[in-house]
Amino acid sequence: MKPLMQQYPTIDDLAVRSRKRLPAFSISYLEGGAGRETSLARNTNAFDDIELTPRYLTDVSKVSTKTTLFGRSWDQPFGIAPVGLCGIMWPGTEQFLATAAKRANIPYGLSIVATNDIESIGAITNDDVGHNGWFQMYTPVDPDIKKDVLERATAAGFDVLILTLDVPVPARRERQIRSGLNIPPRMDLRNIAQTLLHPSWALATAKAGLPRFRTLERYSFGHNLNDTMAFLSTQLTQPMTLDEIKRIRDLWPGKLVVKGIMHVDDAKQTASVGVDGIVVSNHGGRQIDSSPATVPCLPAIRQSVGPSVSVLLDSGVRSGLDVARALASGADFVLAGRPFLYGVTALGEPGADHAIQILSDELVNTMKQIGCVDTNDLDQRWLS
Ligand code: FNR
Repeated sequence: MKPLMQQYPTIDDLAVRSRKRLPAFSISYLEGGAGRETSLARNTNAFDDIELTPRYLTDVSKVSTKTTLFGRSWDQPFGIAPVGLCGIMWPGTEQFLATAAKRANIPYGLSIVATNDIESIGAITNDDVGHNGWFQMYTPVDPDIKKDVLERATAAGFDVLILTLDVPVPARRERQIRSGLNIPPRMDLRNIAQTLLHPSWALATAKAGLPRFRTLERYSFGHNLNDTMAFLSTQLTQPMTLDEIKRIRDLWPGKLVVKGIMHVDDAKQTASVGVDGIVVSNHGGRQIDSSPATVPCLPAIRQSVGPSVSVLLDSGVRSGLDVARALASGADFVLAGRPFLYGVTALGEPGADHAIQILSDELVNTMKQIGCVDTNDLDQRWLS
């Protein structure tokens, strides 16, 4: 057998295999964007438009991708963005990604609506050697539940909390609607046919059982997906306000990060209430189809918050070259969602490590090509 890097040298190659292995409703959830998916395309096109001009008079035999963020050192300047409901893409996705992230010493973001719970993932990501789990929260309306979730996250060793701002209401994802995706999954004739055509997915899912929102199900009246969905639709739908961020700032002892910042005003306001980081993100083009791409918004946002706030970026990163482009455009750190999901859905557990390896190899190669020996030095000097 050829080594994985020869079979699947890029994230796009993994995506091709994912599309073959997953039923339409499942791949539509992974890949789809809001509306006609213009903002999804805009995200990747914006990266393609960024030119990095090489310089050739530097010894690039050794390069470093290590960086420091939120008080600890990471081996790469990128991490895994939080993703909900992973179980409908591939069972075990959260464990595979968390374990691979731990091995690679990069952060893993666990979503509050993931299909594995805070405690099990915390046991993987957070130990005496270091905490690489970040917990992402859509705020529960009930203050007791909110407090309990935050206490559980702290007890499980998560020391970075991400508050996602960009889901004031559920999005209209047209591809998802057309594919017949229902949460919880409804096994009508069409979905049964889709499932039968994808036997490896069907087998893996049958073995694992239907996905459950394991962090939140204990607060709902029943433990099946239906009950938890009904509970979530009333518990997690509130738009996030500045007052709520202030309240959480008072409750949360660790680093606080807000995700979904696209406007300088939002950046300034959230910085003023003491957040440690912001993620310039449009949720991977999944919320509003008119959204600008993230990378062009970065310089003004970076400037508006000053050096004490770390600025992260996601949405549209598909390669290590894109990671380099984001850093050169002013990001301190980069997150990606779909690239790692393509890894797991294409190859199962080894796909998590492989997707990380692809981004890492491409990043190192890019640095050597452009004459930059340390990702911390990668800045606008390389922009054409
Ligand atoms: C997401 N994202 C997301 N974000 C979040 O804060 N909480 C969540 O539960 C989810 N769920 C989710 C599901 C799926 C299937 C995807 C693809 C994305 C958004 C995610 O954290 C990140 O912002 C985007 O994935 C970044 O865009 P790319 O890298 O996928 O282009």
